[in-house]
Parts: sequence; structure tokens; C-alpha cells
Amino acid sequence: MRIDIITVLPELLKSPFEASILKRSIEKGLVEVHFHNLRDYTDKSYNQIDDYQFGGGAGMVMMIEPIDKCITELKSQRNYDEVIYMTPDGSTLNQRMANSLSLVENIIILCGHYKGVDQRVRDTLITKEISIGDYVLSGGELGAAVLCDAIIRLIPGVLNNETSALTDTFQDDLLAPPVYTRPAEYKGLKVPEVLLNGNFPKIEKWREDQAYERTKQLRPDLLDND
Ligand code: ADE
Repeated sequence: MRIDIITVLPELLKSPFEASILKRSIEKGLVEVHFHNLRDYTDKSYNQIDDYQFGGGAGMVMMIEPIDKCITELKSQRNYDEVIYMTPDGSTLNQRMANSLSLVENIIILCGHYKGVDQRVRDTLITKEISIGDYVLSGGELGAAVLCDAIIRLIPGVLNNETSALTDTFQDDLLAPPVYTRPAEYKGLKVPEVLLNGNFPKIEKWREDQAYERTKQLRPDLLDND
């Protein structure tokens, strides 16, 4: 998979890709991540990429021209499955979206700033608008990092058996069951007996029951999904 991220703050975005699972997935050649500084695509003085909004009102708006130039250049080099715009008024990211995006070849992610982008960008260049939650960030960069992490860990070969995503919370619309490690007793706090006796069918059944109970208690909305 190849991910092209268009941003005015590449430096804000780089570190999540320089550690742990994301770093290893890049080193293994399973994913390529490229950063494009939007300011490299403007002819205006001071590398201006935003302007006042027509009709008046507080806040600057990102102009269509540099965004169009950058996206057009990328599209001239390869086909893209999605051109995603990170914005608080997009569809809220969930595991299902991450699963389906982990199957595509090439995506562009545009990070918004200020009051957002000129609506004509959204109308003509963007194929998907994604929010990471009902709160407003200073820009789309942190959202893009969250989206990339959620997608990349699902690409086959990125996680090994021990860290397999198949047992993750949400993967089957259930929260994950509780987990324990050594010691079996700490200050009188005991690990459930069932996990210690090596009866794997029983352990599996216990985990399923716990996942269901946890979901019913903490996220009953997930059980309503079809
Ligand atoms: N940009 C600003 N707020 C955002 C959010 N909640 N999700 C994605 N991008 C954003």
C-alpha cells in the first residue's frame, strides 16, 4: 500500500511513522508513506496556501489551487483508490472503515487547517471525508496519523501471530475480553481460575462470554449493529 499525505505541517506527522509497528511495516516494504508539503505547490508570495473567506467571517480558508496542483501531480503518476479529507464533519472513523481501507492499493490523505478547505476541493477532488471523533483538532495531521495507524496494522504481514488484529476489540463488533499475565496472584488479586487450567475450549468459551458481557455493560450500542 502507498499513502500520500498532503499537509502544511509534515514535521508534525513524521514521528508516528518512525517507531514500533508503523516503522517496521515501512522497513518490511509493506507500506510506503510519502509527505507532501502543500506550500511547495503555491506560486504565491510567502508560500501562502490560505486566504480570507468570501462573504466575510472569521478564519482563513485553504485555497483550491495548491491542493489541486498537488493532487493532480500525484494522480498523474498512479491511480488512487481514495482521496481522503480529514475533517471534523466527516464520517466518524470506525473499525469497519479501517478494515476496508486496509485492502486498497493507493490513498491520498489531505489534512485540513484553519476554517477548512474551499468547498470546491470537497466537491471535486475528495472521495471520502473522515473525522476521528466529535471534537475539533487544530488540524487534520493527528487525525491522519490515527487513520494510518488503524489501517496499516491491518495490512497482512504487518502484525505477527502474537499481535494479530483478529482478536482486537471491535473486530467482531465486541469489546475484547480482559487479559492477565504473571503473577497469578498479586496482593491477593487473583487471575480467574479458568485461565490457569489449560482447558482451551473452556477458556475460549469464557473469553466469548466476557467479551459479550463487557460489550453489554460498556458499549451496548455495538450489539445493535446488524
Ligand atoms: N481536523 C480537525 N478536527 C478533526 C477531527 N475531529 N477529525 C479529523 N480531522 C480533523
